[in-house]
Amino acid sequence: MIAQTQPLRCLGIESSCDETAAAVVTGGGEILSNVVFGQAGLHDAYGGVVPEIAARAHAERLDHAVRAALEGAACALSDLDLIAVTSGPGLIGGVMSGVITAKALGAASGVPVLGVNHLAGHVLTPMLSDGLRPPYLVLLVSGGHCQFIAVLSPRRFQRLGGTLDDAPGEAFDKSARLLGLGYPGGPEVEKAAASGEATRFVLPRPLLDREGCDLSFSGLKTAVRRARDRLVAAQGGLYQRDVADLAASFQEAVADVLATKTERALADMGARHPITGLAVAGGVAANGVLRARLRAVAEAHDLALSAPPLELCTDNGAMIAWAGLAQWQDGAEAGQDLSPRPRWPLDDRAAPLLGFGKRGVKA
Ligand code: KG4
Ligand code: ZN
Repeated sequence: MIAQTQPLRCLGIESSCDETAAAVVTGGGEILSNVVFGQAGLHDAYGGVVPEIAARAHAERLDHAVRAALEGAACALSDLDLIAVTSGPGLIGGVMSGVITAKALGAASGVPVLGVNHLAGHVLTPMLSDGLRPPYLVLLVSGGHCQFIAVLSPRRFQRLGGTLDDAPGEAFDKSARLLGLGYPGGPEVEKAAASGEATRFVLPRPLLDREGCDLSFSGLKTAVRRARDRLVAAQGGLYQRDVADLAASFQEAVADVLATKTERALADMGARHPITGLAVAGGVAANGVLRARLRAVAEAHDLALSAPPLELCTDNGAMIAWAGLAQWQDGAEAGQDLSPRPRWPLDDRAAPLLGFGKRGVKA
């Protein structure tokens, strides 16, 4: 028998939205390379991701991303043990480009190919970044996602709740626009809010009166618009003080709702499973006020809050490589017969999500 001298190595490919990404990760959790080609500038004029433009950009860039990832890892195709590719959910053209690329690489090299759920990539990342081990709870909050996921094993997930309309990142971006702040709105709102008075405007806390962990953010955005319109009608415009106070009031409402629903999600999961950790992922996880609130919730439950670094929170290939390895080692079958799944809920038993998000249908 030949002893395994090298840890397993996996190439991960991600192209389900507007990032063309490839990475090589080892079974020991070492990220050997992590290449992300964004599509900044291609979609700006349209106010959202245009699927056809995204698909063409992925098709043009995927082989470059893969080559750069392999070179960065000093790794030949034949050195790989596995190729993992996002095979859904996401924009179908981009997902197809990734799946075709992975299959071609697999056919040329004989390396097995495994289709990975994009959301599994996000929620398994705390294993890679913070050494968390299931069962743990993840709050996924970005421009396109908002879900509470109980991670029970690398292949078993329970969705405890999610947004019924907008994702929180969308609410930040839209509120920023209403307040005349730049894009992306999240960091701009956070900056403006730092000098604001969060109690000046009484904004709604949507769905707090309803049981369970579902969320809604579109009403909050409307409330920001109304408050702004009232000020404009009364005084002809917004003073800097108004922008700061409205930004702070909005941010407080989002953090309040997410913290309270996280409490509920922990109680819900805790009634059925032990919980080893609480993680927050996605672009909105960068928000300092939200992090502080979630850290307090975690500490009240004797848990640490894990927040992967931003480059692992936003779409990337390393999360797909890692999720692929974790699922493969958990018994998932790799082969050549995978097909793209534009809709692919992590938890088949949960009710379908109603929200779509600015980045397309997510689950
Ligand atoms: O995960 P992400 O990079 O992309 C996807 O949506 O998939 O998330 C981007 C979102 C944007 O809506 C952005 O405004 C928001 O994350 N964001 C923030 C902050 N930084 C980024 N929201 C609130 N506070 C922040 N500091
Ligand atoms: Zn994503």
